[in-house]
Amino acid sequence: MDNPKTFRQCLGKFATGVTVVTCADQDGNPCGITANSFSSVSLDPPLVLWNIAKVSNSLSAYMNAKHFVINVLSTDQAGLSSHFAKSDHTLFRDIEYSLSADGAPLLPGTLAAFECRTHEIHDCGDHYIIIGEVLRFTSSEKDPLLFYGGNYRQLGD
Ligand SMILES: Cc1cc2nc3c(=O)[nH]c(=O)nc-3n(C[C@H](O)[C@H](O)[C@H](O)COP(=O)(O)O)c2cc1C
Repeated sequence: MDNPKTFRQCLGKFATGVTVVTCADQDGNPCGITANSFSSVSLDPPLVLWNIAKVSNSLSAYMNAKHFVINVLSTDQAGLSSHFAKSDHTLFRDIEYSLSADGAPLLPGTLAAFECRTHEIHDCGDHYIIIGEVLRFTSSEKDPLLFYGGNYRQLGD
């Protein structure tokens, strides 16, 4: 790869939704990280994935978590996305949330939520691929928050 910057820009041509992946860390503290690497994998069994950078400050929380939640953000939740893109992913003070049956934070007002059991973790380059088995899911009729070319967008832009 001779130019990582243009590679990154080219990857940004793929429009995505935005999620905040949450779990409880080893001390039971809530943990959340903004991620747009979410993807569906399998319908039967129901599997989804996301990728976490090996340099992430919250890597050990997700590597050890038995459960996590994929919170899919709605169009008015760009502030939450920016909040959980900060280096301290345990910043839940002033953030409204409830706990899933498995103890991972559920953010209110999202478009959808997938409550997962950690199924497999694959070592892949500078990231780990975390695959989850979906145990429960909810959705609403809101519009999605989109990410394209390094910027937040909304449907109809
Ligand atoms: C829209 C968006 C999508 C992101 N997607 C991912 C992702 O899929 N995986 C990941 O590890 N980090 C992703 N990040 C970065 C993380 O949110 C993280 O906060 C950032 O790397 C800083 O935290 P750290 O210092 O713990 O690494 C994304 C950030 C933004 C704004």
